[in-house]
Amino acid sequence: MDKEMQWWWPLALDEALGSEPLAVRLLGQHLVLWRDAKGQAVLMVDRCPHRGARLSQGRIRDHAIECPYHGWRFDQQGSCKIIPATPDFQPPASFKICRYPVVEMHGLIWGGARRGHLRAANAAQPSSTKAALWSVRCSYQRTTGS
Ligand code: FES
Repeated sequence: MDKEMQWWWPLALDEALGSEPLAVRLLGQHLVLWRDAKGQAVLMVDRCPHRGARLSQGRIRDHAIECPYHGWRFDQQGSCKIIPATPDFQPPASFKICRYPVVEMHGLIWGGARRGHLRAANAAQPSSTKAALWSVRCSYQRTTGS
């Protein structure tokens, strides 16, 4: 698994990420993609640090991702900025969601599995030298309940 942690993984088509959060999985981890105020993709753990709700089921509000349960809002750094039930309370730095490196390239959004509060610019980027030769095979199967 160590090698896989060092690679970039395609998570979604860049056009698939609009104004709503998008749930993705990377090496078995539930993550959420969303766009910040500058339109940059943000990749973080899809679990609110308060009670564990899925942030991907929330919404983007005032350039932050809002948890669907109690409305805590997190900025692009993963820091909690607003707790609606206690609007005068300044959330401590420990109220934070872990981020993952993410870049957009070749029409795809790529994520790195190395956990941390990394900025994508600090990480090596997916190779672009032979992008025109890439071939991607996908297997998609939809199942429905009986
Ligand atoms: S579970 Fe997210 S704000 Fe409570």
